[in-house]
Amino acid sequence: LAHLALGSVTGAAWFAQASADLGALLSDHLHCERKAAENALSLVRRYPHHRGLVAALTRMAHEETSHLAQVAGIIERRGWVVRPDTPNRYARGLLAAVRPRDPYHLLDELLIASFIEARSRERLSLLGDGFGAAGDRALSDFYHSLASAEERHAGLFVDLARPLISEIELCARLAELAEHETKVLAALPMGSRIH
Ligand SMILES: [Fe+2]
Ligand SMILES: [Fe+2]
Repeated sequence: LAHLALGSVTGAAWFAQASADLGALLSDHLHCERKAAENALSLVRRYPHHRGLVAALTRMAHEETSHLAQVAGIIERRGWVVRPDTPNRYARGLLAAVRPRDPYHLLDELLIASFIEARSRERLSLLGDGFGAAGDRALSDFYHSLASAEERHAGLFVDLARPLISEIELCARLAELAEHETKVLAALPMGSRIH
């Protein structure tokens, strides 16, 4: 069965960069969860007829909203405020590969969402490991538990895409998008953010 594989591995220097400004990282993470929930509901609005989509993505939006609330709680308990969202060059770069006509439009949106989930899974596990090594057990456990949810979401988006094209086409498109995602990510500056 076709499955998603990221085209690159995040380097060891990433954790120190990402966690240098913890307030900025947590705010960026909060907005990522919000956009994940919004994207799930936007697909529900535009593709209610796609089999299984409404049930799967309303559940997912619910989970992402719960992640958002948990990040908000962490920020609040530290006495910090949520910072405004910043332009998301990662998602915008990825979405430039979306083709205009269905079924390819929906296919590309689902697969790109899957790549975002898979990269988030990778980055959130690195945060789990990094905070664990730094002795912050609470943040470490939090990020490891979120990472496993995002891994599940990545698989779910690919499963929703399966009926749209043949297995061979799906494999080919996943490979193309893996290369695209790697290029987009490599062009972004490092900072205290998830992507
Ligand atoms: Fe999430
Ligand atoms: Fe997710």
